[in-house]
Amino acid sequence: MLRTGRGKAHAKVILFGEHAVVHGEPAVALPLAELPVRVTAEAVPGPLTIASTPYTGVLHEVPELLDAPRAVVLATLDHVGLPHEGIRIMVEGDVPPARGLGSSAAVAGALVRALADLAGRDLTEAEYLDLVAVGERVAHGSPSGLDAAATAAAEPVWFEAGVARRLATRMSGVLVVADSGVKGRTRHAVASVRTFLERRPMRGAALMTGLGALAQGGALDLTGDRPEALGEKMTQAQGMLRELGVSSPELDRLVDAALAAGALGAKLTGGGQGGCIIALAADDAAADRIDLALREAGAIGTWRHRIGPEEDR
Ligand code: MEV
Repeated sequence: MLRTGRGKAHAKVILFGEHAVVHGEPAVALPLAELPVRVTAEAVPGPLTIASTPYTGVLHEVPELLDAPRAVVLATLDHVGLPHEGIRIMVEGDVPPARGLGSSAAVAGALVRALADLAGRDLTEAEYLDLVAVGERVAHGSPSGLDAAATAAAEPVWFEAGVARRLATRMSGVLVVADSGVKGRTRHAVASVRTFLERRPMRGAALMTGLGALAQGGALDLTGDRPEALGEKMTQAQGMLRELGVSSPELDRLVDAALAAGALGAKLTGGGQGGCIIALAADDAAADRIDLALREAGAIGTWRHRIGPEEDR
């Protein structure tokens, strides 16, 4: 009988703390279960093959990302004791690559889970995170581990000193995620922040601390039901990220359009220098207006993510 292993992981958005988290500050991320990546791994005679559906694009659209899934697959096969042959892997999903939504970690996570399932192995969370990190190091260089943790989580995540904990939000709101259509390479963006820190150490350190403080305050707003305060902090974070050089004219235009359409706050999310922004809307009607404004300002795709106590989602 044909043996098949299946695995799933999902995209994420970073609400606060991207880049600063690489330098030891805390961060807040939200898992996007509505944007999953699914992997099937079948035991069939022949060589090891990895393919993906065209829309996932992960293996086709961004050639250097090919290396990351390959590294994850080989490391996972070794870890679970499967051979490097006789397995056909298919990656499917709707997470656009290189848009700050964590596609590399989501693909890695789904690959790890599918191959572990094929081997009949239950991995611990630590084993899972270590294997996802193999791909993240290839894709990002020096990953903080935030993306890997967020793709494994079902709840908003507080991430500090390499450890993720669940954040029980009491706030209700709608996040509109908008894709600028421009690819952002996390590796390049992380390197440009490092250069900023080397050239302007005092200002760089102040920005890192400031972004960390916004993550602290934003987590309290989420758990304390203060959407206006949360939105203000998002827009402040955008100002700091822009100063660090990880925004872009397209991202700035989307942020401005969202704010003009009544968003409580807006900022880039993830590595930046392309990719996506997130805008906080008070309710669905506000989200509709913001969504329209974002599309008029050039967004090539938008998604909605409901923030709320568990029972609201
Ligand atoms: C990328 O999604 C988030 C960054 O902070 C990099 C990292 O945490 O490894 C830019």
